Amino acid sequence: MYPDRVVSGMRPTGPMHLGHYHGALRNWIGMQSELPCLFFVADWHALTTHYDDPSLIERSTWDMLVDWLAAGVDPSQATLFIQSRVPEHAELHLLLSMATPLGWLERVPTYKDQIDNLAHRDLATYGFLGYPLLQAADVLIYRASDVPVGEDQVPHIEMMREIARRFNHLYGKEKGFEEKAQDAVKKLGSKRAKLYNELRTAYQQDGKDEALEQAKAMLDSAQSLSMIDRERLFGYLEGSRKLILVEPQARLTAAPRLPGLDGRKMSKSYGNAIALREGKDVVTKKVRTMPTDPARVRRSDAGEPERCPVWQFHQVYSDAPTQQWVQQGCRSAGIGCLECKQPVIDAIIRAQEPMHERAQPYLDDPTLVRAIVADGNDVARKLAQETMRDVREAMGLAYT
Ligand code: TRP
Ligand code: SF4
Repeated sequence: MYPDRVVSGMRPTGPMHLGHYHGALRNWIGMQSELPCLFFVADWHALTTHYDDPSLIERSTWDMLVDWLAAGVDPSQATLFIQSRVPEHAELHLLLSMATPLGWLERVPTYKDQIDNLAHRDLATYGFLGYPLLQAADVLIYRASDVPVGEDQVPHIEMMREIARRFNHLYGKEKGFEEKAQDAVKKLGSKRAKLYNELRTAYQQDGKDEALEQAKAMLDSAQSLSMIDRERLFGYLEGSRKLILVEPQARLTAAPRLPGLDGRKMSKSYGNAIALREGKDVVTKKVRTMPTDPARVRRSDAGEPERCPVWQFHQVYSDAPTQQWVQQGCRSAGIGCLECKQPVIDAIIRAQEPMHERAQPYLDDPTLVRAIVADGNDVARKLAQETMRDVREAMGLAYT
């Protein structure tokens, strides 16, 4: 009923590194030519954990946008914007908060995890508890169909689906909906109307999911319908409600993931990261000093790639023959670790070259990024305002 659309965001809490690239950005770049995409800097989200260090946000926001552009996010295909420049996100967050049970927020796994992980920060705040709800508003306000995220974010997407469902259930009632939906069925023409009713019954009475899919496909191809009738017919298929908000689905980044230099998750705070636009010398030094299989004390000791973080880098950066060479050379002590690391160093530097090139014009002229974002903010705000009009009306706030 609503067009497919991709929405995703990242928090500006520091420079981007290769873990972000392989964990998320690469996925974004793959989708931008497939579907309309909105990518935003989640600056309010950064404040939920870094409220005592707001200076970080401004710098990280612009650096992060340059990183995105350097990585290949294409502003002629995707819309880039800043969350706080579309204040409608906050309005939707507030309105959704009215009917969101506290238990839904408290049982999100990242909530307790993060409080434990970031024990040096006081996260017993209202804003931090509401983090996933703000994230739900970010996505639902664009009626997004797809949200590219990492594994850790899946519970947040699950929760936003529940929020959308609950919203439609509570507020999707329309006076005379049943009659209006019946009228819309008639407008399909007698053949299609008959099929629609049969499929609706098959889904509602017999729980046949294929019938629902088939009916949706038919509605998609029924071109004579007005937007509002189409919306009603979609809502009527699943119940007797209008669909105001759309349930999005998570689109996971395909493995393999790139770990940090020490094999743990790559993170600036662990000191095990390679920045997205790191200099060649630093890349070389960082990889050369990476820990390897601890059992390989001497050059003559055989090693085991499975115990070595360098091998995980090879899995991301090397072709099959090189991987073969590593496996054999390591297990037979045929190659030394520095020798083994060289192709990784070369591949990272090679992959970063076009990124440095793409970043240069934006570094030379910072107004370019400002202009891209100003355009993106306008596009996003317009879409957000459309949804908010429906939301306010559904919640009884559109009175004059
Ligand atoms: N919570 C996400 C993260 O920490 C960032 C984020 C905020 C986001 N809003 C979003 C991601 C909306 C996807 C969609 O990575
Ligand atoms: Fe790791 Fe390569 Fe050394 Fe084996 S040879 S331990 S895979 S760096």
